[in-house]
Amino acid sequence: AKPAAATHSIILVGLMGAGKTTIGRLLSRHREMEFVDSDYEIVARCGVSIPTIFEIEGEAGFRKRESAMIDELTQRQGIVLATGGGAVLDPVNREHMKARGIVVYLHCSPQELFLRTRHDRNRPLLQTEDPLARLQALYAQRHPLYLEVADIVIDSGKQSTHCLVRRLEQEL
Ligand code: S3P
Repeated sequence: AKPAAATHSIILVGLMGAGKTTIGRLLSRHREMEFVDSDYEIVARCGVSIPTIFEIEGEAGFRKRESAMIDELTQRQGIVLATGGGAVLDPVNREHMKARGIVVYLHCSPQELFLRTRHDRNRPLLQTEDPLARLQALYAQRHPLYLEVADIVIDSGKQSTHCLVRRLEQEL
């Protein structure tokens, strides 16, 4: 285990539906650390939903807000931070994450992610004719970026959340 884990934040990255929020929340309880979700913070500050931000400001507008939030939240110590799936797109965010926390990539196949997010209406990037193809494209684009920032890669496949948290605890 890295001794830094006690004070450093734990930052969860991965595609939509990988379980960043669920696993992050459980892990934070285990470790008695505060849990923070960057999407939730953005929505709380804007007072409108993520689909509404995308509608009004486009993806570019959302990304600006996201990068500001990632900069702010990665400066905090000792929290468990769940990031939005696209947070790794900005190279500055990647630098902040790598420098300021222990980054965990929750890896999951596009097929599995598709099954998990099928009925979801809160993710504008998946509101398309063919969400599986979209997830495959996002996976192809982002998988290398998640690997680049990650200190730890955990396969979030079909295991129970408790099992995943236990495995993650072993790696930290
Ligand atoms: C996005 C993922 C979402 C949210 C937004 C864009 C993405 O977060 O930030 O809809 O680009 O992958 P989750 O990964 O928590 O769903």
